[in-house]
Amino acid sequence: VNVVPDAIAYGRMRWNTPLSEDHAELLLERLEVSAGDEVVDLGCGWGELLIRAVVPVPTCRGTGVDNAPWALERGRNLAAEQGVSDRVAFVAEDASTWPDSADRIVCIGASQAWGSEPDALRNLRRAVRPGGRLLFGDGCWEHPPSADAAAMFGESVLALSDLVNAAMQAGWHVLHVSTADQREWDDFEATWRAGREDWLLAHPGDPRAGEVRTHLAGRLREYVNVYRGVLGFAYLVLS
Ligand SMILES: C[S@@+](CC[C@H](N)C(=O)[O-])C[C@H]1O[C@@H](n2cnc3c(N)ncnc32)[C@H](O)[C@@H]1O
Repeated sequence: VNVVPDAIAYGRMRWNTPLSEDHAELLLERLEVSAGDEVVDLGCGWGELLIRAVVPVPTCRGTGVDNAPWALERGRNLAAEQGVSDRVAFVAEDASTWPDSADRIVCIGASQAWGSEPDALRNLRRAVRPGGRLLFGDGCWEHPPSADAAAMFGESVLALSDLVNAAMQAGWHVLHVSTADQREWDDFEATWRAGREDWLLAHPGDPRAGEVRTHLAGRLREYVNVYRGVLGFAYLVLS
């Protein structure tokens, strides 16, 4: 349902992934962005994490790559608010064909750009310069899926152990593995719904409001009945 403009639909989300502030801090600590580093976020969305990676290290530069113009616009505004517009660029490109390498690559929730998680992990090898690191995040099964969950998310979701194996098989050294906890997931889902709820409050008489309400109720039902506690989300820091 594309009734709600994306900027409003996602307006209540800090980032478009199940992630708390302190978990984000931990991941950035493990990514170890250093002076002079170039950081590229492939499938950056509005680049909140990219900006947080770059802000504390005044000599490093960031590039956010995404194919959603509205998200890039939000990213440029965030960079301006943080005073880093001169060091963080947002570009509208297909992440899977990004030609350059960088010291630090971030790729969270965007592996579908390469086809699958193993494909992304293999292809991202050449994007990371020698001695560099990749912060990779994607969905994984926290528990074996029911038939409904498997049908909803497809064959491409891996168990955490298979995801870690895929990273090692692609030649990565695994420095860090953590998964989103239940409260991070609940907050992700709640803030996803909250943007749409905002639109409903602002457009009570809109003829499409019923459609949006049905969509929201359906997503909530699917979450609590089918994938809550089953679909997980893993963050790996790789070198
Ligand atoms: C689940 S969101 C995650 C966004 C961001 N990494 C974050 O954590 O907030 C996935 C992002 O990947 C982007 N994306 C998907 N396929 C892409 C592609 N082929 N090229 C560039 N961006 C892509 C989407 O537009 C979306 O912003």
